[in-house]
Amino acid sequence: MIIAPSVLSLDYSDTKKQLDELKKSKATWLHFDVMDGHFVNNLSFGPHVLKTMKKGLDLFYDVHIMVDNPMFFQKVFIDAGADGITFHLEACKDEEECFEVIKEIKNRGKKVGLSIKPNTSVDTLKPFIKELDLVLIMSVEPGFGGQSFIESSIDKIKDLKKLIVESGSNALIQVDGGINDVTGKLCKEAGADVLVAGSYIFNNDIVKAIESLC
Ligand code: DX5
Ligand code: ZN
Repeated sequence: MIIAPSVLSLDYSDTKKQLDELKKSKATWLHFDVMDGHFVNNLSFGPHVLKTMKKGLDLFYDVHIMVDNPMFFQKVFIDAGADGITFHLEACKDEEECFEVIKEIKNRGKKVGLSIKPNTSVDTLKPFIKELDLVLIMSVEPGFGGQSFIESSIDKIKDLKKLIVESGSNALIQVDGGINDVTGKLCKEAGADVLVAGSYIFNNDIVKAIESLC
């Protein structure tokens, strides 16, 4: 199981100490939640924060852009050092735009992920599934950390797993929102490959919390 701590929930009054803990942990990815205040009612951080963290922490920088203009922001964060960009299907005006953003990210040699919100069905992913390195199932409404896991996400993970197997896609299944040792286990059993957790990790002993998700 790949663990991707979400730095949205970091306690920024003591960043270095927590990044040092992450270094000791089994986390191999770092999940960056970029929010533009339009696609979601929250604003998070810009490319400078990613650049700064990358100097001291050698992980896979998994950037989740919850923004209205994914074509613009994928470039901004790839230029800042992102290793993977995951954008939202709901932010694209049509299938063509979604394919264009996928192509642009792949042309830069980065991993590409597509995310769907809780009310968006897995079927909407069908046209893109073979182009993707990752699919992100949002198990909370995007925008804020600390929300409760939406139980129906488990069936979506199972449906997605079926679609990936039937289509011959190599996409990883990532789940994000309300993940802890209990919900993380359910996601793992349903077929998830990557777990994103913010509050569960940074509100507890970082090393132990990550260990409990592996
Ligand atoms: C929500 C973000 C999540 C969030 C996870 O919009 O995409 O990554 O930070 O936070 P927790 O783990 O606290 O639900
Ligand atoms: Zn996220």
